[in-house]
Amino acid sequence: MSIKGKHIVLGITGSIAAYKAASLARLLIREGAEVQVVITPSGKEFITPVTLSALTGKPVVSEFFTANDGTWHSHVDLGLWADLMLIAPATAATLGKMANGIADNMLITTYLSMKAAVMVAPAMDLDMFAHPSTTRNIEILKSYGNIIIEPAAGELASHLIGKGRMEEPEKIVERVRDFFGKQDSLSKKKVLITVGPTYEKIDPVRFIGNYSSGKMGFALAEECADRGAEVVLIAGPVSLSVSHPNIKRIDVESAEEMYQASISEFPTVDAAILCAAVADYRPQEQAKEKIKRKSDEMQISLVPNKDIAASLGEIKKEGQVMVGFALETNNEVENAIGKMKKKKLDYIVLNSLKDSGAGFRHDTNKVSILDESGNKTDFPLKSKTDVAKDIIDCCLGRKK
Ligand code: CTP
Repeated sequence: MSIKGKHIVLGITGSIAAYKAASLARLLIREGAEVQVVITPSGKEFITPVTLSALTGKPVVSEFFTANDGTWHSHVDLGLWADLMLIAPATAATLGKMANGIADNMLITTYLSMKAAVMVAPAMDLDMFAHPSTTRNIEILKSYGNIIIEPAAGELASHLIGKGRMEEPEKIVERVRDFFGKQDSLSKKKVLITVGPTYEKIDPVRFIGNYSSGKMGFALAEECADRGAEVVLIAGPVSLSVSHPNIKRIDVESAEEMYQASISEFPTVDAAILCAAVADYRPQEQAKEKIKRKSDEMQISLVPNKDIAASLGEIKKEGQVMVGFALETNNEVENAIGKMKKKKLDYIVLNSLKDSGAGFRHDTNKVSILDESGNKTDFPLKSKTDVAKDIIDCCLGRKK
């Protein structure tokens, strides 16, 4: 994937590895990227801004103002200009400031204003890297969606041997290329995603529902949008929000409303991911008034809802990809394959309730993906964000 024309803010901090940032800037420029360096005051102790501005063809930004003419450097403008912010090297202090929003220099204010993705290549001595506070800060940055380029192991500037050395510039550029390749892999594609539970009304205050939180489907929607797809997210009642401008959200409540929205959107999409935990039945009658308690037993008659996945499978056209989910407690693989065939799905994602940390209401999930030919790929327990990446790589392709 070419990075030609991409706008990259290169953040440089006070580590001995800052000398490698010159090669990094040069490699990025050679591949056609536009590079704007933002350097911390201690970064300047390790590499001179003159070297960096000569390589990038742009004045290096370090302070909020240029001392001699009082020019104001706008971190907000940089946040909007960038297609990517790459902080390499990132010291332990910078990781800590990023994790905690301590905006005491131009680099951190730029980071906090950044609209684009952020990649971070830590560099420090092995003990600093191994310290629990560094580990915790990296975990926090990952939870913000920042991409961490793990340091390599080897001889460090201190002559100690261990993990902490900033990844080599060539390898970092490879990661940048992969990032942009992945980012565009679903461009011009439209994806429909159903998500969350459905609520089937019993009376004005009661419903039949389920524990689906919608987290898996929202992670899928964000990941598809990050890769350039236009996403139609048909969401049952969930308390989650979307931030990506490429996601059009349609809120529904009942299975019937989800069915209507899905049927009307499906003909225009390239792929549908049916992630919703749709109620199979609804009360035959919906009482107009609140049902009063009676002393004897009560019964509610249920009638079947439409099967959204199966209905879309019936009208599926050549080239449209359909991915379903199955949550099984017994004969998992056999049941999942049965559902895939019955609903004419191309893939089915199986999550087992037997795995702790997987399924409803968790932030993690453990899945296996089955394809039409019966091939099964098992994945370990991961965050739902990472599971979403695996599902999309596997089912919607990893085009570069
Ligand atoms: N599904 C759907 N509409 C329904 C029921 C299910 O679109 N009315 C979709 C789900 O979103 C999921 C797949 O079908 O992708 C399988 O859902 P699941 O509830 O496991 O399947 P059911 O066919 O309802 O089977 P079960 O008897 O196990 O509930």
